[in-house]
Amino acid sequence: MDNKIIDESIQGQVLKFETKNTAGKKLFLESYGCQMNFSDSEIVASILTEKGFSMTQNFEEADLIFINTCAIRENAELRVRNRLNDFKRVKKKNPKLLVGVLGCMAERLKSQFLEQEKLVDIVVGPDSYRDLPNLIEEAEDGHKAINVILSKEETYADLTPLRLGSNGVSAFISIMRGCDNMCSFCVVPFTRGRERSRDPDSIIAEAKDVFDNGYKEVTLLGQNVDSYLWSGGGLKKENLSSEQQAAATNFAQLLEKVALISPQLRVRFSTSHPKDMTDDVLHMVAKHTNICNYIHLPVQSGSSRILEMMNRGYTREWYLDRMAAIKRIIPNCGISTDIITGFCSETEEDHQQTISLMKEIKYDYAYMFSYSERPKTLAERKYKDDVAEAVKKRRLAEIIELQRLNSGIKTLLGIGQVHEVLVEGFSKKSNEMLMGRNSQNTVVVFPKQNYKKGDYVNILATRCTTSTLIGEPV
Ligand code: SAH
Ligand code: SF4
Ligand code: F3S
Repeated sequence: MDNKIIDESIQGQVLKFETKNTAGKKLFLESYGCQMNFSDSEIVASILTEKGFSMTQNFEEADLIFINTCAIRENAELRVRNRLNDFKRVKKKNPKLLVGVLGCMAERLKSQFLEQEKLVDIVVGPDSYRDLPNLIEEAEDGHKAINVILSKEETYADLTPLRLGSNGVSAFISIMRGCDNMCSFCVVPFTRGRERSRDPDSIIAEAKDVFDNGYKEVTLLGQNVDSYLWSGGGLKKENLSSEQQAAATNFAQLLEKVALISPQLRVRFSTSHPKDMTDDVLHMVAKHTNICNYIHLPVQSGSSRILEMMNRGYTREWYLDRMAAIKRIIPNCGISTDIITGFCSETEEDHQQTISLMKEIKYDYAYMFSYSERPKTLAERKYKDDVAEAVKKRRLAEIIELQRLNSGIKTLLGIGQVHEVLVEGFSKKSNEMLMGRNSQNTVVVFPKQNYKKGDYVNILATRCTTSTLIGEPV
Protein backbone atom coordinates (compact mmCIF):
# COMPACT_ATOMS: atom_id res chain seq x y z
CA MET A 1 0.00 0.00 0.00
CA ASP A 2 1.51 3.32 -0.97
CA ASN A 3 -0.90 5.46 1.05
CA LYS A 4 1.09 7.72 3.27
CA ILE A 5 -0.49 8.31 6.64
CA ILE A 6 0.87 11.68 7.62
CA ASP A 7 0.60 12.45 11.31
CA GLU A 8 0.76 15.75 13.11
CA SER A 9 4.37 15.20 14.16
CA ILE A 10 5.70 15.85 10.67
CA GLN A 11 3.99 19.14 10.00
CA GLY A 12 7.46 20.70 9.89
CA GLN A 13 7.76 19.39 6.34
CA VAL A 14 5.50 22.25 5.31
CA LEU A 15 8.65 24.37 5.31
CA LYS A 16 10.22 22.17 2.67
CA PHE A 17 7.30 22.92 0.40
CA GLU A 18 8.01 26.63 0.52
CA THR A 19 11.14 26.19 -1.54
CA LYS A 20 9.15 24.59 -4.32
CA ASN A 21 7.65 26.88 -6.95
CA THR A 22 3.88 26.52 -7.08
CA ALA A 23 3.36 29.98 -8.52
CA GLY A 24 0.81 30.06 -11.27
CA LYS A 25 -0.91 26.81 -10.28
CA LYS A 26 -4.66 27.04 -10.23
CA LEU A 27 -6.93 25.75 -7.49
CA PHE A 28 -10.63 25.02 -7.97
CA LEU A 29 -12.35 24.70 -4.59
CA GLU A 30 -15.96 23.63 -4.20
CA SER A 31 -17.77 23.40 -0.87
CA TYR A 32 -20.79 21.50 0.40
CA GLY A 33 -22.59 21.38 3.74
CA CYS A 34 -22.94 23.89 6.53
CA GLN A 35 -21.54 27.37 7.09
CA MET A 36 -18.70 25.89 9.13
CA ASN A 37 -17.56 23.96 6.08
CA PHE A 38 -17.67 27.11 3.95
CA SER A 39 -15.72 28.92 6.62
CA ASP A 40 -13.16 26.09 6.56
CA SER A 41 -12.83 26.49 2.79
CA GLU A 42 -11.78 30.08 3.45
CA ILE A 43 -8.99 28.75 5.69
CA VAL A 44 -7.94 26.29 2.98
CA ALA A 45 -7.91 29.05 0.36
CA SER A 46 -5.84 31.21 2.68
CA ILE A 47 -3.25 28.46 3.27
CA LEU A 48 -2.90 27.66 -0.43
CA THR A 49 -2.86 31.19 -1.83
CA GLU A 50 -0.05 31.88 0.70
CA LYS A 51 1.79 29.07 -1.08
CA GLY A 52 1.34 30.70 -4.47
CA PHE A 53 -1.81 29.01 -5.76
CA SER A 54 -4.36 31.20 -7.50
CA MET A 55 -8.08 30.44 -7.37
CA THR A 56 -10.10 29.56 -10.47
CA GLN A 57 -13.85 29.29 -10.98
CA ASN A 58 -13.42 26.84 -13.85
CA PHE A 59 -12.45 23.28 -12.92
CA GLU A 60 -11.51 22.42 -16.52
CA GLU A 61 -8.49 24.72 -16.24
CA ALA A 62 -7.44 23.76 -12.70
CA ASP A 63 -4.20 22.04 -11.66
CA LEU A 64 -5.77 21.08 -8.37
CA ILE A 65 -9.42 20.39 -7.56
CA PHE A 66 -10.54 20.26 -3.95
CA ILE A 67 -14.04 19.36 -2.89
CA ASN A 68 -14.93 20.19 0.70
CA THR A 69 -17.50 17.57 1.59
CA CYS A 70 -20.50 17.06 3.88
CA ALA A 71 -21.61 13.73 5.36
CA ILE A 72 -24.70 14.82 7.27
CA ARG A 73 -27.22 12.87 5.14
CA GLU A 74 -26.87 10.21 2.49
CA ASN A 75 -27.94 12.51 -0.35
CA ALA A 76 -25.19 15.00 0.62
CA GLU A 77 -22.67 12.21 0.07
CA LEU A 78 -24.28 11.12 -3.19
CA ARG A 79 -23.92 14.62 -4.59
CA VAL A 80 -20.21 14.59 -3.82
CA ARG A 81 -19.79 11.21 -5.49
CA ASN A 82 -21.44 12.47 -8.68
CA ARG A 83 -19.18 15.47 -8.65
CA LEU A 84 -16.09 13.27 -8.25
CA ASN A 85 -17.13 11.38 -11.36
CA ASP A 86 -17.28 14.69 -13.26
CA PHE A 87 -13.74 15.44 -12.09
CA LYS A 88 -12.59 11.95 -13.05
CA ARG A 89 -13.52 12.71 -16.65
CA VAL A 90 -11.40 15.89 -16.60
CA LYS A 91 -8.52 13.92 -15.09
CA LYS A 92 -8.62 11.48 -18.00
CA LYS A 93 -7.83 14.39 -20.32
CA ASN A 94 -5.26 15.90 -17.97
CA PRO A 95 -3.45 13.17 -16.01
CA LYS A 96 -1.41 15.73 -14.05
CA LEU A 97 -4.54 17.15 -12.45
CA LEU A 98 -4.78 16.37 -8.73
CA VAL A 99 -8.15 15.82 -7.08
CA GLY A 100 -8.61 16.02 -3.33
CA VAL A 101 -11.45 15.35 -0.90
CA LEU A 102 -11.57 17.60 2.16
CA GLY A 103 -13.93 17.87 5.09
CA CYS A 104 -16.52 15.65 6.66
CA MET A 105 -16.50 12.68 4.25
CA ALA A 106 -12.72 12.33 4.50
CA GLU A 107 -12.49 10.21 7.62
CA ARG A 108 -15.34 7.89 6.65
CA LEU A 109 -14.45 7.19 3.06
CA LYS A 110 -10.70 7.62 2.95
CA SER A 111 -9.73 4.12 1.85
CA GLN A 112 -12.67 3.72 -0.51
CA PHE A 113 -11.82 6.92 -2.34
CA LEU A 114 -8.10 6.28 -2.55
CA GLU A 115 -7.86 2.56 -3.13
CA GLN A 116 -11.02 0.94 -4.41
CA GLU A 117 -12.40 3.66 -6.60
CA LYS A 118 -9.19 5.55 -7.39
CA LEU A 119 -11.28 8.69 -7.58
CA VAL A 120 -8.92 10.97 -5.71
CA ASP A 121 -5.26 11.61 -4.95
CA ILE A 122 -5.55 13.47 -1.66
CA VAL A 123 -7.84 12.99 1.35
CA VAL A 124 -7.72 15.54 4.16
CA GLY A 125 -9.90 15.79 7.28
CA PRO A 126 -11.12 19.09 8.79
CA ASP A 127 -8.31 19.39 11.35
CA SER A 128 -5.40 18.81 8.97
CA TYR A 129 -5.54 21.75 6.58
CA ARG A 130 -2.19 23.12 7.71
CA ASP A 131 -0.72 19.95 6.27
CA LEU A 132 -2.18 20.57 2.78
CA PRO A 133 0.95 21.99 1.10
CA ASN A 134 2.87 18.98 2.30
CA LEU A 135 0.21 16.53 1.13
CA ILE A 136 -0.01 18.18 -2.28
CA GLU A 137 3.71 17.68 -2.65
CA GLU A 138 3.34 14.00 -1.71
CA ALA A 139 0.63 13.62 -4.34
CA GLU A 140 2.73 15.39 -6.98
CA ASP A 141 5.45 12.84 -6.30
CA GLY A 142 2.97 10.11 -7.16
CA HIS A 143 2.03 9.04 -3.64
CA LYS A 144 -1.49 8.89 -2.36
CA ALA A 145 -1.65 11.52 0.37
CA ILE A 146 -3.94 11.27 3.37
CA ASN A 147 -4.27 12.98 6.74
CA VAL A 148 -7.55 12.53 8.56
CA ILE A 149 -6.25 12.88 12.09
CA LEU A 150 -8.65 14.82 14.30
CA SER A 151 -7.10 17.21 16.78
CA LYS A 152 -8.15 18.27 20.27
CA GLU A 153 -6.56 21.70 19.88
CA GLU A 154 -6.63 22.91 16.28
CA THR A 155 -8.79 26.03 15.81
CA TYR A 156 -6.80 27.76 13.00
CA ALA A 157 -6.91 30.78 15.31
CA ASP A 158 -3.85 32.45 13.80
CA LEU A 159 -4.92 32.18 10.15
CA THR A 160 -6.75 34.92 8.27
CA PRO A 161 -9.43 33.32 6.08
CA LEU A 162 -9.58 34.35 2.44
CA ARG A 163 -13.20 35.51 2.13
CA LEU A 164 -14.54 33.46 -0.78
CA GLY A 165 -17.73 34.31 -2.61
CA SER A 166 -18.46 36.91 0.04
CA ASN A 167 -20.77 39.86 -0.61
CA GLY A 168 -18.25 42.10 1.19
CA VAL A 169 -20.89 42.88 3.83
CA SER A 170 -21.22 39.76 5.97
CA ALA A 171 -18.43 37.46 7.13
CA PHE A 172 -18.52 34.14 8.97
CA ILE A 173 -16.17 33.57 11.88
CA SER A 174 -15.69 30.13 13.45
CA ILE A 175 -15.47 30.44 17.22
CA MET A 176 -15.16 26.75 17.99
CA ARG A 177 -14.77 23.38 16.28
CA GLY A 178 -16.09 19.86 16.70
CA CYS A 179 -18.98 18.71 18.88
CA ASP A 180 -19.22 16.67 22.08
CA ASN A 181 -22.96 16.17 22.10
CA MET A 182 -23.45 12.82 20.47
CA CYS A 183 -27.02 13.32 19.28
CA SER A 184 -27.81 9.78 18.24
CA PHE A 185 -28.64 10.63 14.59
CA CYS A 186 -25.62 12.81 13.95
CA VAL A 187 -22.34 12.10 12.23
CA VAL A 188 -20.65 15.43 13.11
CA PRO A 189 -18.87 14.26 16.30
CA PHE A 190 -17.25 11.53 14.18
CA THR A 191 -16.30 13.71 11.24
CA ARG A 192 -15.17 16.79 13.18
CA GLY A 193 -14.01 15.38 16.49
CA ARG A 194 -14.03 16.86 19.97
CA GLU A 195 -15.39 20.27 20.78
CA ARG A 196 -12.81 23.02 21.35
CA SER A 197 -13.16 26.77 21.69
CA ARG A 198 -11.02 29.36 19.98
CA ASP A 199 -9.06 32.09 21.77
CA PRO A 200 -11.42 35.10 22.11
CA ASP A 201 -8.59 37.55 21.37
CA SER A 202 -8.14 35.97 17.94
CA ILE A 203 -11.91 36.09 17.34
CA ILE A 204 -12.09 39.79 18.27
CA ALA A 205 -9.04 40.54 16.13
CA GLU A 206 -10.64 38.80 13.14
CA ALA A 207 -13.96 40.61 13.65
CA LYS A 208 -12.16 43.98 13.93
CA ASP A 209 -10.19 43.19 10.82
CA VAL A 210 -13.29 42.44 8.73
CA PHE A 211 -15.01 45.57 10.07
CA ASP A 212 -11.94 47.67 9.13
CA ASN A 213 -12.24 46.15 5.66
CA GLY A 214 -15.78 47.41 5.20
CA TYR A 215 -17.80 44.43 6.42
CA LYS A 216 -20.87 45.30 8.49
CA GLU A 217 -21.94 41.93 9.86
CA VAL A 218 -20.27 38.91 11.43
CA THR A 219 -21.86 35.55 12.14
CA LEU A 220 -20.17 33.59 14.92
CA LEU A 221 -20.21 29.89 14.10
CA GLY A 222 -20.13 26.71 16.14
CA GLN A 223 -22.15 23.47 16.35
CA ASN A 224 -23.25 24.54 19.84
CA VAL A 225 -22.21 28.14 20.51
CA ASP A 226 -23.75 28.08 23.99
CA SER A 227 -21.05 25.73 25.20
CA TYR A 228 -18.27 28.09 24.05
CA LEU A 229 -15.79 28.49 26.92
CA TRP A 230 -12.23 29.80 26.81
CA SER A 231 -10.12 29.36 29.88
CA GLY A 232 -6.70 30.05 28.44
CA GLY A 233 -5.57 26.45 28.52
CA GLY A 234 -8.38 25.21 26.32
CA LEU A 235 -9.66 23.04 29.19
CA LYS A 236 -13.28 21.86 29.36
CA LYS A 237 -15.64 23.30 31.97
CA GLU A 238 -15.69 20.10 34.02
CA ASN A 239 -11.89 20.19 34.39
CA LEU A 240 -11.71 23.78 35.64
CA SER A 241 -11.57 24.93 39.27
CA SER A 242 -14.30 27.39 40.33
CA GLU A 243 -11.81 30.31 40.11
CA GLN A 244 -10.76 29.24 36.62
CA GLN A 245 -14.41 29.00 35.59
CA ALA A 246 -15.08 32.49 36.89
CA ALA A 247 -12.11 33.84 34.92
CA ALA A 248 -13.06 32.04 31.70
CA THR A 249 -14.86 33.71 28.78
CA ASN A 250 -18.29 32.21 28.11
CA PHE A 251 -20.46 32.74 25.04
CA ALA A 252 -22.47 35.66 26.44
CA GLN A 253 -19.22 37.47 27.28
CA LEU A 254 -17.75 36.73 23.87
CA LEU A 255 -20.89 38.12 22.23
CA GLU A 256 -20.51 41.35 24.18
CA LYS A 257 -16.84 41.73 23.25
CA VAL A 258 -17.70 41.37 19.57
CA ALA A 259 -20.71 43.70 19.84
CA LEU A 260 -18.54 46.41 21.42
CA ILE A 261 -16.24 46.57 18.38
CA SER A 262 -18.68 49.05 16.82
CA PRO A 263 -22.42 49.77 16.93
CA GLN A 264 -22.16 49.71 13.11
CA LEU A 265 -21.18 46.02 13.16
CA ARG A 266 -24.09 43.58 13.32
CA VAL A 267 -23.49 40.35 15.20
CA ARG A 268 -25.26 37.07 14.50
CA PHE A 269 -24.55 33.55 15.75
CA SER A 270 -25.42 29.94 14.98
CA THR A 271 -26.18 27.30 16.25
CA SER A 272 -27.78 27.61 19.68
CA HIS A 273 -28.55 24.41 21.55
CA PRO A 274 -31.78 24.20 23.60
CA LYS A 275 -30.10 22.28 26.40
CA ASP A 276 -27.34 24.89 26.87
CA MET A 277 -28.88 28.23 25.87
CA THR A 278 -28.88 30.37 29.02
CA ASP A 279 -30.86 33.51 29.85
CA ASP A 280 -27.47 35.29 30.06
CA VAL A 281 -27.06 34.90 26.31
CA LEU A 282 -30.62 36.18 25.72
CA HIS A 283 -30.07 39.20 27.98
CA MET A 284 -26.89 40.00 26.07
CA VAL A 285 -28.82 39.93 22.79
CA ALA A 286 -31.40 42.28 24.32
CA LYS A 287 -28.73 44.59 25.74
CA HIS A 288 -26.91 45.43 22.49
CA THR A 289 -28.97 46.66 19.56
CA ASN A 290 -26.30 45.50 17.11
CA ILE A 291 -26.67 41.86 18.23
CA CYS A 292 -29.45 40.72 15.91
CA ASN A 293 -32.79 39.62 17.31
CA TYR A 294 -32.63 36.25 15.69
CA ILE A 295 -32.10 32.79 17.16
CA HIS A 296 -31.74 29.51 15.35
CA LEU A 297 -32.79 26.88 17.90
CA PRO A 298 -33.06 23.40 16.38
CA VAL A 299 -35.80 21.34 18.01
CA GLN A 300 -35.53 18.16 15.84
CA SER A 301 -38.81 16.72 17.18
CA GLY A 302 -41.82 17.78 19.24
CA SER A 303 -42.03 14.41 21.01
CA SER A 304 -40.15 13.98 24.29
CA ARG A 305 -39.87 10.25 23.66
CA ILE A 306 -38.13 10.82 20.32
CA LEU A 307 -35.94 13.59 21.80
CA GLU A 308 -34.77 11.15 24.45
CA MET A 309 -33.89 8.56 21.79
CA MET A 310 -32.13 11.29 19.85
CA ASN A 311 -30.04 11.98 22.97
CA ARG A 312 -30.76 15.70 22.66
CA GLY A 313 -30.66 16.35 26.39
CA TYR A 314 -34.02 18.16 26.64
CA THR A 315 -37.75 17.48 26.60
CA ARG A 316 -40.56 19.20 24.72
CA GLU A 317 -41.40 21.12 27.93
CA TRP A 318 -37.80 22.28 28.38
CA TYR A 319 -37.70 23.47 24.79
CA LEU A 320 -40.97 25.37 25.20
CA ASP A 321 -39.57 26.99 28.34
CA ARG A 322 -36.52 28.19 26.34
CA MET A 323 -38.88 29.57 23.69
CA ALA A 324 -40.85 31.40 26.36
CA ALA A 325 -37.56 32.86 27.68
CA ILE A 326 -36.70 34.13 24.19
CA LYS A 327 -40.10 35.74 23.77
CA ARG A 328 -39.92 37.29 27.26
CA ILE A 329 -36.35 38.64 27.05
CA ILE A 330 -36.14 39.52 23.34
CA PRO A 331 -39.56 40.74 22.18
CA ASN A 332 -39.78 40.62 18.40
CA CYS A 333 -37.13 37.93 17.98
CA GLY A 334 -36.90 36.00 14.72
CA ILE A 335 -36.81 32.25 15.41
CA SER A 336 -35.86 29.37 13.17
CA THR A 337 -35.31 25.67 13.72
CA ASP A 338 -34.25 22.31 12.30
CA ILE A 339 -36.65 19.35 12.26
CA ILE A 340 -36.15 15.69 11.36
CA THR A 341 -39.11 13.49 10.35
CA GLY A 342 -39.20 9.71 10.51
CA PHE A 343 -36.53 9.10 13.13
CA CYS A 344 -36.37 5.49 14.39
CA SER A 345 -39.71 4.30 15.82
CA GLU A 346 -41.47 7.65 15.21
CA THR A 347 -45.25 7.07 15.34
CA GLU A 348 -48.08 9.18 13.92
CA GLU A 349 -48.59 10.46 17.45
CA ASP A 350 -44.96 11.58 17.74
CA HIS A 351 -45.30 13.25 14.35
CA GLN A 352 -48.48 15.04 15.50
CA GLN A 353 -46.53 16.37 18.48
CA THR A 354 -44.02 17.92 16.11
CA ILE A 355 -46.90 19.47 14.21
CA SER A 356 -48.52 20.83 17.37
CA LEU A 357 -45.19 22.30 18.52
CA MET A 358 -44.77 24.04 15.18
CA LYS A 359 -48.30 25.43 15.44
CA GLU A 360 -47.57 26.68 18.91
CA ILE A 361 -44.24 28.34 18.17
CA LYS A 362 -44.88 29.55 14.61
CA TYR A 363 -41.26 29.62 13.48
CA ASP A 364 -40.21 32.28 11.02
CA TYR A 365 -38.20 29.69 9.17
CA ALA A 366 -37.37 25.98 9.41
CA TYR A 367 -34.86 23.62 7.81
CA MET A 368 -36.61 20.29 7.51
CA PHE A 369 -35.20 16.85 6.69
CA SER A 370 -36.26 13.23 6.62
CA TYR A 371 -34.09 10.97 8.74
CA SER A 372 -31.09 9.47 7.01
CA GLU A 373 -29.23 6.78 8.93
CA ARG A 374 -25.52 7.51 9.23
CA PRO A 375 -22.83 4.90 9.79
CA LYS A 376 -21.19 4.72 13.24
CA THR A 377 -23.79 6.92 14.94
CA LEU A 378 -25.51 5.81 18.16
CA ALA A 379 -28.84 5.45 16.34
CA GLU A 380 -27.30 3.19 13.73
CA ARG A 381 -25.88 0.95 16.43
CA LYS A 382 -28.85 0.98 18.83
CA TYR A 383 -32.06 1.49 16.86
CA LYS A 384 -33.78 0.26 13.74
CA ASP A 385 -34.34 2.71 10.91
CA ASP A 386 -37.90 1.39 10.78
CA VAL A 387 -40.06 4.23 9.43
CA ALA A 388 -40.82 3.50 5.77
CA GLU A 389 -39.27 5.95 3.30
CA ALA A 390 -42.72 6.89 1.96
CA VAL A 391 -43.92 7.69 5.49
CA LYS A 392 -40.84 9.81 6.23
CA LYS A 393 -41.42 11.75 3.03
CA ARG A 394 -45.15 12.20 3.63
CA ARG A 395 -44.50 13.53 7.14
CA LEU A 396 -41.80 15.79 5.74
CA ALA A 397 -44.21 17.15 3.13
CA GLU A 398 -46.76 17.84 5.89
CA ILE A 399 -44.39 19.85 8.02
CA ILE A 400 -43.03 21.73 5.00
CA GLU A 401 -46.58 22.75 4.09
CA LEU A 402 -47.32 23.87 7.64
CA GLN A 403 -44.09 25.83 7.78
CA ARG A 404 -44.89 27.50 4.46
CA LEU A 405 -48.11 28.82 5.99
CA ASN A 406 -46.35 29.92 9.18
CA SER A 407 -43.58 31.70 7.26
CA GLY A 408 -46.19 33.46 5.15
CA ILE A 409 -48.05 34.69 8.23
CA LYS A 410 -44.80 35.81 9.89
CA THR A 411 -43.77 37.79 6.83
CA LEU A 412 -47.22 39.36 6.53
CA LEU A 413 -46.96 40.60 10.11
CA GLY A 414 -43.92 42.68 9.06
CA ILE A 415 -46.08 44.85 6.76
CA GLY A 416 -46.72 48.36 8.05
CA GLN A 417 -43.58 48.27 10.19
CA VAL A 418 -40.25 50.05 9.69
CA HIS A 419 -37.28 47.67 9.44
CA GLU A 420 -33.62 48.56 9.75
CA VAL A 421 -32.08 46.80 6.76
CA LEU A 422 -28.40 46.16 6.13
CA VAL A 423 -27.99 46.23 2.35
CA GLU A 424 -26.24 43.15 0.92
CA GLY A 425 -26.56 43.88 -2.81
CA PHE A 426 -28.98 43.94 -5.70
CA SER A 427 -32.21 41.95 -5.46
CA LYS A 428 -32.37 38.73 -7.44
CA LYS A 429 -34.86 40.12 -9.93
CA SER A 430 -33.71 43.64 -10.68
CA ASN A 431 -30.71 45.94 -10.54
CA GLU A 432 -33.09 48.77 -9.72
CA MET A 433 -33.89 47.09 -6.38
CA LEU A 434 -31.60 46.39 -3.41
CA MET A 435 -31.90 43.54 -0.93
CA GLY A 436 -30.83 43.15 2.66
CA ARG A 437 -32.05 41.69 5.94
CA ASN A 438 -33.69 43.10 9.00
CA SER A 439 -32.47 42.18 12.47
CA GLN A 440 -34.85 39.17 12.51
CA ASN A 441 -33.13 37.84 9.36
CA THR A 442 -36.10 38.42 7.03
CA VAL A 443 -35.11 39.47 3.51
CA VAL A 444 -36.30 42.98 2.61
CA VAL A 445 -36.30 44.41 -0.95
CA PHE A 446 -36.63 48.11 -1.86
CA PRO A 447 -35.89 50.63 -4.67
CA LYS A 448 -32.20 51.43 -4.98
CA GLN A 449 -32.34 55.24 -5.08
CA ASN A 450 -28.90 56.39 -3.88
CA TYR A 451 -28.33 53.59 -1.41
CA LYS A 452 -25.57 51.03 -1.75
CA LYS A 453 -24.20 47.77 -0.38
CA GLY A 454 -23.22 48.07 3.30
CA ASP A 455 -25.67 50.91 4.09
CA TYR A 456 -28.21 50.68 6.90
CA VAL A 457 -31.57 51.87 5.56
CA ASN A 458 -34.94 52.18 7.34
CA ILE A 459 -37.62 50.58 5.20
CA LEU A 460 -41.37 50.77 5.65
CA ALA A 461 -42.69 47.40 4.45
CA THR A 462 -45.76 47.79 2.26
CA ARG A 463 -46.21 44.33 0.72
CA CYS A 464 -44.64 40.87 0.70
CA THR A 465 -44.17 37.47 -0.89
CA THR A 466 -44.11 34.30 1.33
CA SER A 467 -40.68 35.07 2.70
CA THR A 468 -39.66 38.55 1.46
CA LEU A 469 -40.81 41.98 2.56
CA ILE A 470 -41.02 44.74 -0.04
CA GLY A 471 -41.03 48.41 0.90
CA GLU A 472 -39.80 52.00 0.60
CA PRO A 473 -37.05 53.92 2.40
CA VAL A 474 -38.41 56.32 5.04
N1 SAH B 1 -25.25 21.46 15.61
C1 SAH B 1 -26.52 21.70 15.09
C2 SAH B 1 -26.88 20.94 13.85
C3 SAH B 1 -25.90 20.53 12.86
S1 SAH B 1 -26.45 19.49 11.56
C4 SAH B 1 -27.55 21.34 16.15
O1 SAH B 1 -27.28 20.72 17.12
O2 SAH B 1 -28.69 21.64 15.96
C5 SAH B 1 -27.81 20.41 10.88
C6 SAH B 1 -29.11 19.68 10.93
O3 SAH B 1 -29.09 18.56 10.09
C7 SAH B 1 -29.51 19.13 12.29
O4 SAH B 1 -30.03 20.09 13.14
C8 SAH B 1 -30.52 18.09 11.91
O5 SAH B 1 -31.82 18.62 11.84
C9 SAH B 1 -30.09 17.64 10.53
N2 SAH B 1 -29.51 16.29 10.58
C10 SAH B 1 -28.40 15.90 11.23
N3 SAH B 1 -28.21 14.57 11.08
C11 SAH B 1 -29.23 14.11 10.32
C12 SAH B 1 -29.61 12.83 9.84
N4 SAH B 1 -28.89 11.75 10.13
N5 SAH B 1 -30.72 12.73 9.08
C13 SAH B 1 -31.47 13.83 8.81
N6 SAH B 1 -31.16 15.06 9.24
C14 SAH B 1 -30.06 15.21 10.00
FE1 SF4 C 1 -24.77 16.94 15.71
FE2 SF4 C 1 -26.02 17.21 18.01
FE3 SF4 C 1 -23.55 18.12 17.73
FE4 SF4 C 1 -25.55 19.34 16.51
S1 SF4 C 1 -25.26 19.19 18.72
S2 SF4 C 1 -23.58 18.78 15.63
S3 SF4 C 1 -26.87 17.65 15.99
S4 SF4 C 1 -24.17 15.99 17.67
FE1 F3S D 1 -21.33 20.58 8.33
FE2 F3S D 1 -22.00 18.53 6.84
FE3 F3S D 1 -19.83 18.44 8.25
S1 F3S D 1 -23.37 19.80 7.96
S2 F3S D 1 -20.18 19.73 10.00
S3 F3S D 1 -20.26 19.81 6.58
S4 F3S D 1 -21.23 16.79 7.96
